[in-house]
Amino acid sequence: PLQDSLAAEEPVENQNKVLPISISGPEKKEATVSITVVGASGDLAKKKIFPALFALYYEDFLPEHFTIFGYARSKLTDEELRDMISMTLTCRIDQRENCSDKMERFLQRCFYHSGQYGSEESFQELDKRLKEKEAGRLPNRLFYLSVPPNIFVDVVRCASRYASSPTGWTRVIVEKPFGRDSESSRELTRCLKQYLAEDQIFRIDHYLGKELVENLSVLRFSNLVFEPLWSRQYIRNVQLIFSEDFGTEGRGGYFDSYGIIRDIMQNHLLQILALFAMETPVSLDAEDIRNEKVKVLRSMRNLELDDVVVGQYKGHTKGGTTYPSYTDDPTVKKNSLTPTFAAAAIFIDNARWDGVPFLMKAGKALHTRRAEIRVQFRHVPGNLYKCNFGSDLDKATNELVIRVQPDEAIYLKINNKVPGLGMRLDCSTLNLLYSSRYPSEIPDAYERLLLDAIEGERRLFIRSDELEAAWSLFTPLLKELESKKIAPELYPFGSRGPVGAHYLAAKHNVRWG
Ligand code: NDP
Ligand code: BG6
Repeated sequence: PLQDSLAAEEPVENQNKVLPISISGPEKKEATVSITVVGASGDLAKKKIFPALFALYYEDFLPEHFTIFGYARSKLTDEELRDMISMTLTCRIDQRENCSDKMERFLQRCFYHSGQYGSEESFQELDKRLKEKEAGRLPNRLFYLSVPPNIFVDVVRCASRYASSPTGWTRVIVEKPFGRDSESSRELTRCLKQYLAEDQIFRIDHYLGKELVENLSVLRFSNLVFEPLWSRQYIRNVQLIFSEDFGTEGRGGYFDSYGIIRDIMQNHLLQILALFAMETPVSLDAEDIRNEKVKVLRSMRNLELDDVVVGQYKGHTKGGTTYPSYTDDPTVKKNSLTPTFAAAAIFIDNARWDGVPFLMKAGKALHTRRAEIRVQFRHVPGNLYKCNFGSDLDKATNELVIRVQPDEAIYLKINNKVPGLGMRLDCSTLNLLYSSRYPSEIPDAYERLLLDAIEGERRLFIRSDELEAAWSLFTPLLKELESKKIAPELYPFGSRGPVGAHYLAAKHNVRWG
């Protein structure tokens, strides 16, 4: 038995492997998928979308018949597109393997069409080219909108009218931002729905495709040691932390009109919070899960200014290196009040979470890059060993940490006796480090989400009522911050952020992890 339990700790190969798309039945055999990346000349397409498509192809997750088109205004030939994207394709799966053959075969299935985003003719021409490649098979079409948001509706209008599939499905992946507030988001949804049905719209939040975010429900709902503890009865506070050790890096123009609350909190962190705090869904069906997320989002208390801290990074010189301030970016207004850091205390007014602070913190240009969920448990009532912790009882409480990135891990802080004849307690950790337990590479979030969109799996995409609820929480706060011109607290590039965040946590008896 000892041998067995040790063996169980051996690394697990291919645990996260999904089954390749099954192609069965005569109709499905003849189906083809055309994927059009709109905005193919842009940063996201090069950095994430084409590499994710290649990784799916490499692992045989794409259907047998597929074609990829890049679409943008830039004048490129098919060859130029291939040269451009080949720069960012990598043999992610196995660095030792030479995947140049497969890469070449993948590139031969990539084409480029130059056109305007609001031009009927350009999309009619695209439609002709798609038909040629589809060669009489049942055509399914996926459009990925990797363009600035002011172009979304033009593209959707033209693509749905002139390049949608006549007989198969047509789906559209929409990138964030989905508006700037409740009104603009509602308007965007209204415009998209003039041309598409809700089930054709796949609003992407790439944090939902991250391995540890997807695992959150597994951890919670399939482990008896956690499921009964998931409430105000045992949990003291929850922290959702996002930090980057670099600034806005060339995206200042976009960032300055959005800020960190819209860029990270309203979507990535709030989605994680909704998954964390929702009630048990009836099933794993997309609609059941999204129904629960909407409910918990709608139970969140209005955010007051007192429960929020905003900051902006400033430049400084350290060890001969000069770090820029946010406003040094030429695309950012010199007197910009846009926050690059924010912390907020959120409360959920329902029976499960009454009184539990959910503290969110997101910032750019901080001392480290990490995304984490930290769950701090309550004290053990009448703890026999509390004298071992003196007055610092916080040390005696358990903490569960889900490290989303980097170095994916789940660890639980427990109290343990230091071996020896004395009775000294030590705060130790039970540590599940993914790189030791699961040696195979973790897929990029975009791979999972693209595959889900191709397969019509909507679980990890945002439904319009979820989006509405998410904006309802943040819109009044954003309006107040902006109308009152609240000045962000400055913090040095590379620091831990504004001290105000510590006061905010202290106000709720929390110490940031
Ligand atoms: P880009 O600014 O690189 O734009 C993509 C393409 O759109 C450009 O190559 C350009 O192609 C076209 N374009 C850019 N500006 C305009 C304009 N004003 N009018 C018409 N066309 C324009 O965007 P990204 O690739 O960075 O991002 C794409 C989408 O994804 C955006 O909605 C962004 O918010 C979102 N996003 C991006 C992330 C990132 O890391 N980059 C992360 C998360 C979301 P051409 O001139 O050839 O037509
Ligand atoms: C994007 C934000 O949605 O997420 C960026 O717009 C941020 O500002 C990025 O840098 C972080 O994503 P990841 O996957 O690198 O943590």
